[in-house]
Amino acid sequence: MRRRRLLRIFAVFVGAWILLCCANLFLFLSPPAPDTMTPYQPLDDVELQQQRHKTASPHSGSTLSPGDELSAGQSGWFHKILRYVRGEEKIPSPYITKPMEFPPKSSLRNYLFGSVSKKTIFVFSRPPWMNVQAEDDFRACAVKTCKLTSDYFALYKSAAVVVDVSHVPRNQYRPSFGKRPDQVWVALSQEAPTHCCHSYSFPGWAGVFNFTMSYRLDSDIFFPVGMLIRKELPPRKNYVAIAARKTKMAAWFVSNCRTQSKRELYVKELQKHIDVDVFGQCGPYNCSKAESERCRELLHTDYRFYLAFENSFCLDYVTEKFFDTYNNTDVIPVVRGHADYDRYFPPGTFINTADFSSPADLATHLKALASDAYRYAAILERKDRYETTYTLDQALCKLCEIVHSPELNSQDHHHTDIAEWFESDVCFDPEDV
Ligand SMILES: *[C@@H]1O[C@H](CO)[C@@H](O)[C@H](O)[C@H]1NC(C)=O
Ligand SMILES: *[C@@H]1O[C@H](CO)[C@@H](O)[C@H](O)[C@H]1NC(C)=O
Ligand SMILES: *[C@@H]1O[C@H](CO)[C@@H](O)[C@H](O)[C@H]1NC(C)=O
Repeated sequence: MRRRRLLRIFAVFVGAWILLCCANLFLFLSPPAPDTMTPYQPLDDVELQQQRHKTASPHSGSTLSPGDELSAGQSGWFHKILRYVRGEEKIPSPYITKPMEFPPKSSLRNYLFGSVSKKTIFVFSRPPWMNVQAEDDFRACAVKTCKLTSDYFALYKSAAVVVDVSHVPRNQYRPSFGKRPDQVWVALSQEAPTHCCHSYSFPGWAGVFNFTMSYRLDSDIFFPVGMLIRKELPPRKNYVAIAARKTKMAAWFVSNCRTQSKRELYVKELQKHIDVDVFGQCGPYNCSKAESERCRELLHTDYRFYLAFENSFCLDYVTEKFFDTYNNTDVIPVVRGHADYDRYFPPGTFINTADFSSPADLATHLKALASDAYRYAAILERKDRYETTYTLDQALCKLCEIVHSPELNSQDHHHTDIAEWFESDVCFDPEDV
């Protein structure tokens, strides 16, 4: 009797569950919103590695880890399934990540774990943007037991030594300290080899580095200038009205007037067809550091396009010029560089000069967009679903994992020629000017 009642209840549950599922499926299968992103081609690691002279690395597979899991914001299984069914879930781009969650600084945690021995990461020739004061930097990481320092007394016992190889003083042929055998050294650089100081080619640096940490996708620790995060909720704005209010065509903020990428020639050519207002050293408009907020505001309100042209055509070299336009600025970036933009960044959120046969051809396209508020607005709207995030924390988390990795000392992973890794065969002459 009782058993039968139980069975009946169970049957009702199962029935209800199946019904719910059907209803959900029906909802899911409704035509995807027109704005749905087309998924990226999955990464072909082999191809990537062949393309970039890859040193065999136990951590190479994980360089792409930030993009492993891309979510469209809302968490919870319902939204996950919804996004999955709509094909939005996985866009394997190493540049798209999730916000890091910093747990509150808890005195209880400090009390309990403060004395747990942490591995020290020493930063040599510390770049000004790298805050090594923050003892708590690692609290958002999966492996938290690291600390950052640039105190020379901590050097010898450090598990890892990070050297910003682009900014080592010229006279520093080799740091005046030795390398402990079980210490790993990490060569960090965010500069393109074309305008970098080449300190890493000083003979004293040969063979000492175990890992690379840079914007290159084939770095041991991927450390791009920026990454994108899909916003939790897409903003609600009248993008058509924004488009209609724009009065100016294109802006370019620039201080370096003769570059490896010959972008100045490209812009000159472009200017024959459309207006490009040049701000900074190389043009008539001013935009000092102090006014940078005002200039950003101009992009946001007046300009339709921003020329995010890189100064160097080097592998994966993409800078804040590009990433900054994603951070709540209503302007469409026009990119020119040697990163694989079309593969890694959300399609339909930027314009790539590489997709046009000539500056004239690009100008025609920009003019067409400028006169079509709806098409223009659609790009803005798609772009506005993302924002930019800093990447240092993630890179340091990765390093903390590496120094804790149990296999670490059973492998000999080092770069015999770091200069060659950074420089050889990575920069190319532009072919479009
Ligand atoms: C740009 O700034 C300089 C010095 O700050 C000033 O002399 C010059 O007139 C400014 N040019 C324009 C176009 O505002
Ligand atoms: C992007 O904008 C948000 C909100 O305005 C800000 O908190 C964040 O620091 C910005 N990110 C970058 C990389 O500038
Ligand atoms: C780091 O590089 C050195 C060579 O400078 C090498 O002897 C050592 O085994 C490497 N360590 C690891 C963990 O790969």
